[in-house]
Amino acid sequence: MRAVQCLEYGQPLSIAEFDDPKPREGQVCIEVEAAGVNYVDALIVRGEYQIKPPTPFVAGSEVAGRICAVGSGVEGASVGDRVFSMTGFGGFAERVVVALDRINRIPDSMSAGQAAAFTQSYSTALFSLRDRAHLASGESVLVLGGAGGVGRATIDVAKARGANVIAAASSSEKLDACRALGADSVIDYSTEDLKTRARELSGGGVDVVVDPIGGALAEQALRAMGYLGRYLVIGFAAGEIPRLPLNQVLLRNRSILGVDWGAWMIANGAAQRELLADLLEMVEAGQLSPSEPSVYPLDQAESALDDLMNRRVNGKAVLVP
Ligand SMILES: NC(=O)c1ccc[n+]([C@@H]2O[C@H](COP(=O)([O-])OP(=O)(O)OC[C@H]3O[C@@H](n4cnc5c(N)ncnc54)[C@H](OP(=O)(O)O)[C@@H]3O)[C@@H](O)[C@H]2O)c1
Repeated sequence: MRAVQCLEYGQPLSIAEFDDPKPREGQVCIEVEAAGVNYVDALIVRGEYQIKPPTPFVAGSEVAGRICAVGSGVEGASVGDRVFSMTGFGGFAERVVVALDRINRIPDSMSAGQAAAFTQSYSTALFSLRDRAHLASGESVLVLGGAGGVGRATIDVAKARGANVIAAASSSEKLDACRALGADSVIDYSTEDLKTRARELSGGGVDVVVDPIGGALAEQALRAMGYLGRYLVIGFAAGEIPRLPLNQVLLRNRSILGVDWGAWMIANGAAQRELLADLLEMVEAGQLSPSEPSVYPLDQAESALDDLMNRRVNGKAVLVP
């Protein structure tokens, strides 16, 4: 089978032939139909993530496809089942082996592409809004990077939970995508003043800020929050970790909340399975509408990661073998 290898951190990825992986006891092998391309995958192959696997390794942390082989002792899953799974590593490949308790069935309404791009973004969104910010129906949520992976999932989940969503992004195409997902209003932060517009659109100050970007927008977003506003620190896609004036946290009794879904998920496997089950229930009930991702062939993994890191992807991307 073919798979995308990181031979050395920061060097271009290469595609190579490998023996087909064989599932052992309690494992299944997935014939990959789509592999999600995540910001974290880009950080890992650049050696810029907190987890640094020894090189060479096959990149790729989530996939969707069909089970093509099962190991001994596997019950409740069969060859041909449509499933998606977090893989840790090894997802940018034609086949990957995962433990049985990591797989989930793909709802009939979801394509392989939607499923491959679902777990990380949507789990982060629900964990952030529900478990960290305790978002209540009717509250306002300002989503930065609204057309990105985390941003889109956040808009979708926030709308499903009855929020008034203000999505912010850097171009009219990206803002159109936010509106299509249900955002109530939008701000183009490449041309508009984020703080002023967010305050106007929320009637005085937003209740929750979701920030996967960091950089210069962070202080404006903090200042846009109202009484008891909660600021969710998700990531630093802009590359710069902002320093924020703490008087702006004291004022209006605001809070800044860290979100480390990845570490939480590793330490709380059962709770993550429940969270994902809640999300899948919302999909089945028609309450969530994950966007179809942009598609790249498997051997274009390098371009897909490069486009993602340089703001050229509008939404999620997947690799298709
Ligand atoms: N804390 C957690 O648990 C957790 C979980 C998942 C992801 N994350 C982190 O969240 C961040 C976003 O992830 P994502 O999957 O949403 O990524 P993404 O799909 O690439 O979206 C990031 C968005 O950031 C905006 N952006 C602004 N400046 C940018 C720059 N200099 N380079 C790239 N993008 C820039 C872009 O929107 P505009 O062009 O519209 O500005 C882009 O759509 C990453 O740092 C990731 O590591 C954290």
